[in-house]
Amino acid sequence: EKGGFDHFMLKEIHEQPKAYHDTMLGRISEDGRSVVLPELKISAEKLRGINRVHIVACGTAYHAGLVGKSIIENLVRIPVETDVASEYRYRSPIITPDTLVIVVSQSGETADTLAALREAQRNGAHVLAITNVVGSSVAREADDVIITLAGPEIAVASTKAYSSQLIAFYLFGLYWAQTNGTQDEATVANILAAMQALPEQVEKILAQAEVIKGVAESISKHDSLFFIGRGLDYAVAMEGSLKLKEISYIHSEAYPAGELKHGTLALIEEGIPVIALITQEGLYEKTLSNIKEVKARGADVLGIINEGHEAEVAKSTDRQFAIPRTLPLLTPALSVVPLQLLSYYASLALGHDVDKPRNLAKSVTVE
Ligand code: BG6
Repeated sequence: EKGGFDHFMLKEIHEQPKAYHDTMLGRISEDGRSVVLPELKISAEKLRGINRVHIVACGTAYHAGLVGKSIIENLVRIPVETDVASEYRYRSPIITPDTLVIVVSQSGETADTLAALREAQRNGAHVLAITNVVGSSVAREADDVIITLAGPEIAVASTKAYSSQLIAFYLFGLYWAQTNGTQDEATVANILAAMQALPEQVEKILAQAEVIKGVAESISKHDSLFFIGRGLDYAVAMEGSLKLKEISYIHSEAYPAGELKHGTLALIEEGIPVIALITQEGLYEKTLSNIKEVKARGADVLGIINEGHEAEVAKSTDRQFAIPRTLPLLTPALSVVPLQLLSYYASLALGHDVDKPRNLAKSVTVE
């Protein structure tokens, strides 16, 4: 049942190329120039009238929603807020009939997310669900559904469901951009071509898992560490930090790299591991100088970098892991993979139950 892998989590990490492929299948036109989402009921007219988006989810799905915010704002230029579902209803969010609420849930059964969906509908919003389970409560109650085709996810720590949710956001963001005319055809085609290269690029990352295993073993000896990054790298850093906490029980904090010096830099001491993501081209110089700040204080830095930056980043990091080149907007679909492997191998080194971590359930149906 684990297909030759020791754990479901490792199997599911390795299933990501297929999950990406399957989630894109039939949703890209044959000429590769546009997105087709025939399952969507929302009319082009209604979509063009939407002026605000709320993305609501829990846990790992919330982190996918943080990436989703950047995707939609970047491609469609409409303001997006991403909220944790258990907070959303209690902050009197401004929901109007021109608000699109996107709920994200692997299981489609998370009580907090379902309650947020109902609250949004009560206020007249159109609700789009991104979920992995056909026929789930969220899928049944939402006005529109985009199913991720990650296949069943058994390990409690979500991996392929998260990354397939990113693919769903890219597809929907592009679809919406086409509808509203906010991106030209060539840009859409360029992004779609880069998306279709992702499965093979994930395979390349998985083939280098041994590098990450070595780092994970050294990290497992520490009580605390940091994940840093800017922009989309920060969103992925949050997911990397959560994954590590969930299954290795090692404390970690995800921090926007530029914010360290405004608060927690004092915690960067000799030998503390720092996982630094530096994949956003436009933020490269700034992030590099933040990495130098932690390095100067003795941090043991693993850089998650773009291929081709090895020589330059080598001076400021102790170890590096290069991801294949893609568009800046798409890097989360690659950079999360080494972080998933890092938490997996750290948990393994500590002898924990990787697939069934303490105190967590796969889906939580109480608020
Ligand atoms: C938590 C799970 O309870 O629910 C997390 O332990 C998960 O792994 C979160 O990310 C949200 O679940 P779902 O099914 O709504 O995506």
